[in-house]
Amino acid sequence: MRSWLCCAVLLAASSTQALAQTGSGIDASSDADRRAATTEAEMTNAERVGMLNGILAMPLGDTKIPEGAPLGAGYIPGVPRLDVPALTETDASLGVSYLGGLRGDGATALPSGMAMGSTWSPELMRAGGALIASEAHAKGFNVLLAGGINLVRDPRGGRVFEYLGEDPLHSGLLGGAAVAGIQSQNVISTIKHFALNPTEIGRQFHNGILEESALRMSDLLAFEIAIEQGQPGSVMCAYNKVNGAQACGNDRLLNGILKKDWGYKGWVMSDWGSVRATDFALAGLDQQSGSQLDAAVHFGAPLLDAANSDKRYRTRVADMSRRILRSIYAVGVDKNPPRKAAIDVAAGAAVAQDIAEKGIVLLQNRDAILPLAASAKKILVVGGYADAGVLSGAGSSQAQGQGGPAVSLPTMKDGLFTALMAQNYHRSAPLDAIRARAPQAEVSFRDGRYPAEAALAAKHADLVIVFGTQWLTEGLDVPDLSLPQGQDDVIAAVAKANPKTIVVLETGGPVAMPWQSDVAAIVEAWYPGARGGEAIAAVLFGDVNPSGRLPVTFPASVAQLPRPDLPGAETVEPSFAGHGKPGQTLDIDYNVEGADVGYRWFARKAEKPLYPFGFGLSYTSFERSGLSVTSGAAPAATFTLRNSGARGGADIGQVYLVETPRGKTRRLVAFARAELKPGEARTIEVPIDPRLLADWTPKGWSIAPGTYRFALGASSEELLEDVSVPIAGRTWNYAK
Ligand code: GLC
Repeated sequence: MRSWLCCAVLLAASSTQALAQTGSGIDASSDADRRAATTEAEMTNAERVGMLNGILAMPLGDTKIPEGAPLGAGYIPGVPRLDVPALTETDASLGVSYLGGLRGDGATALPSGMAMGSTWSPELMRAGGALIASEAHAKGFNVLLAGGINLVRDPRGGRVFEYLGEDPLHSGLLGGAAVAGIQSQNVISTIKHFALNPTEIGRQFHNGILEESALRMSDLLAFEIAIEQGQPGSVMCAYNKVNGAQACGNDRLLNGILKKDWGYKGWVMSDWGSVRATDFALAGLDQQSGSQLDAAVHFGAPLLDAANSDKRYRTRVADMSRRILRSIYAVGVDKNPPRKAAIDVAAGAAVAQDIAEKGIVLLQNRDAILPLAASAKKILVVGGYADAGVLSGAGSSQAQGQGGPAVSLPTMKDGLFTALMAQNYHRSAPLDAIRARAPQAEVSFRDGRYPAEAALAAKHADLVIVFGTQWLTEGLDVPDLSLPQGQDDVIAAVAKANPKTIVVLETGGPVAMPWQSDVAAIVEAWYPGARGGEAIAAVLFGDVNPSGRLPVTFPASVAQLPRPDLPGAETVEPSFAGHGKPGQTLDIDYNVEGADVGYRWFARKAEKPLYPFGFGLSYTSFERSGLSVTSGAAPAATFTLRNSGARGGADIGQVYLVETPRGKTRRLVAFARAELKPGEARTIEVPIDPRLLADWTPKGWSIAPGTYRFALGASSEELLEDVSVPIAGRTWNYAK
């Protein structure tokens, strides 16, 4: 007998229009514009230009840190005469960066972008953003260099752990919600790295080639949606080139698309050390960041001279400074300036653990070995420094708690950046959390250095929990998707010795699993942040029902990727800074896949991945049904999710466009997360952004008239039912 609990039709605000009405808590009224124009008009050119270049606020060479400036990523002086505050900038999307302990204080480390992306929850993203911004504010910062939403075009990319996934709607909505949360604390957020920056190798010079319609329908659509949702005060342009021009000096990207088409009113800041000339200002760049890392302070004296002698620059400099002022006023930075205060560590930890628990993805659970029975007597835990902590990603985004990492393994001597490049583990040991959750059991640990030793111990255990880690860092890509340092051999040996083997992965992104059929269960915990150990134990023992869904495709092999050989791997010397040899070039042709990033590529090539985008298991079961799609000017999808199992859990309904008059396709057009009690059903309506039905053409967005087929999915591969609806054709462009 079906106990269908009430089926309230919920309008899930997980589409561009719906969330746009909620806005990002900033004053988007014209008041900010008016105030900016008034203040800017009173400035001298010297005062204007003084806002257009900043330093890396760290003791670098002969850098003088201004009085009162907190050590961090950036400092730009204000104009005290006009009450314009200095900009104090810190990284980044995962928390206030630790800078290798330079400031001596810790902060809450959120789980990685992959973990956050696995929640498919804009609400959680907003909560995480508000938390890290409140901590930045308490540490004296009014700009958080967050919002990394580059699409994962290559799972080997060194910063995949920072990013949210491979789909523009998913990354745009989640990234925009994070920005909204950050700015709700009167801290300016960036969105970054604009654009087409999916890998690290040769990042200062590699040239992404992608024709504009594909770029608009993929990477740029993620930015466009995120900017609409979050209204970030600043956009950070990327190091690399896009179609031949440096992103930070790319007139088409910055002036043509971002500012003219999209009407972006904030300011474009450069990435640190990505400005090559003063005329980048004419291409749309508004501020040079971390100027010590460039060959010159191009946006200092040379820009002032140009402004004093050339009308084009004079006009530009007025606009550049006005954009910064507008964001300061729109976000309320002047009204609620940062004030030093202690952070609430426990409150931060609770938010981090909640996100980690909802971002953990159950990939395999043979014979329902999970959740673990509390009666298990002899448990062996192997590897992953599980006796010390959980892994975090490295580079500018790395946050660490008070006292720093539990374990810090130096990886390279790279001068200035050595501190940012260590392989660190947060102080949250899964072994302790497992022991606390199974007090009746004998829980032993082996570090996993030797497969044979781990296998011997595994023979005598009731069950084995073996950790697999993949460390990622800004600046370096990984050569393949194996688990490094022989971990795959350890897992295989342990599984051979004891079939009751559970693998817990702490990886930056997708990995290969040669031992997949030999193990009983696989849990992807990503980099689970400040309370990752507790989150892992909560899922393993069933205190939490895993609800994560993959935000990226796990390939069965790199041979399935658009570029099986990692571009630049043979020719570019690995280095954090990514400068390469003088004059070195590296073209990466993304036209291979075009807009078909990730699952769309697998669908187009009819390739079967190891695990598909949107996949994740649960300790309960769900029924997804009742798909309907309305057409017209505001199309919407409606579907019902039902918990058909015996315990509460969350499901994520996904609707994909699978066919248009232009042919077969695969595009996520709507999704919604629902927490459901046993037997509970929920009918959800989600508006569909018309851009997801359209192609970009020289005339703008164009929906071809005809029949559109949509499918309700449990993942991008598991399509359950489909409907076809007629949709009228239309073409529209940016009203200018
Ligand atoms: C870095 C990163 C960027 C970061 C900035 C400041 O190199 O690319 O994400 O915000 O510099 O640290």
